[in-house]
Amino acid sequence: MRAFPSFKTSRLFATATLLSLFLGCSNMTPEKTLYQRLGSAEGVANITELFILEIARDERVIAYFEDSNVQRFREKFIEHLCMITDGPCEYSGDTMVDIHVGMNVTEGAFTAIVEDLIEAMTKADVAIGTQNQVLDRLARLRPEIIYL
Ligand code: HEM
Repeated sequence: MRAFPSFKTSRLFATATLLSLFLGCSNMTPEKTLYQRLGSAEGVANITELFILEIARDERVIAYFEDSNVQRFREKFIEHLCMITDGPCEYSGDTMVDIHVGMNVTEGAFTAIVEDLIEAMTKADVAIGTQNQVLDRLARLRPEIIYL
């Protein structure tokens, strides 16, 4: 009876260990952020543009935006969407409460805006799972936006 494995066996064992280490490492590539799954800076800018076009033709909400500066809205919404999806941006706009206070945004208007964003993300070919994660983050902001 041999107390130690043969040279051949231990070489096989070493190869298997190295292989599993290698495979283990290849599985360790960091998961993409939600921001990256939206297509990073280009993707977020494109979604925002499509979103603005949806709002512009949405009679349920367009009145809210009558006196708004679309250039500012675009810039700040891009920053905000980037921030809430873990992108590398610092949001420089006003707080959700400060912007939306006095607008009396209704439940229906909030749903309409969310639907407009879904439409924009669909047109931008964002995967459904990714869309749902974005919507989940927006839903958390609801109390800071409606009926203020
Ligand atoms: C889904 C949640 C929403 C998010 C994340 C959001 C985010 C934002 C952001 C980032 C801005 C720009 C802030 C700034 O200029 O400093 C903004 C402005 C604005 N939002 Fe929202 N918003 C949401 C829902 C709504 C809803 C439901 C309405 C009304 C139907 C609305 C109406 C407006 C209007 C009118 C402005 C422009 C205000 C102005 O020009 O002074 N928002 N929003």
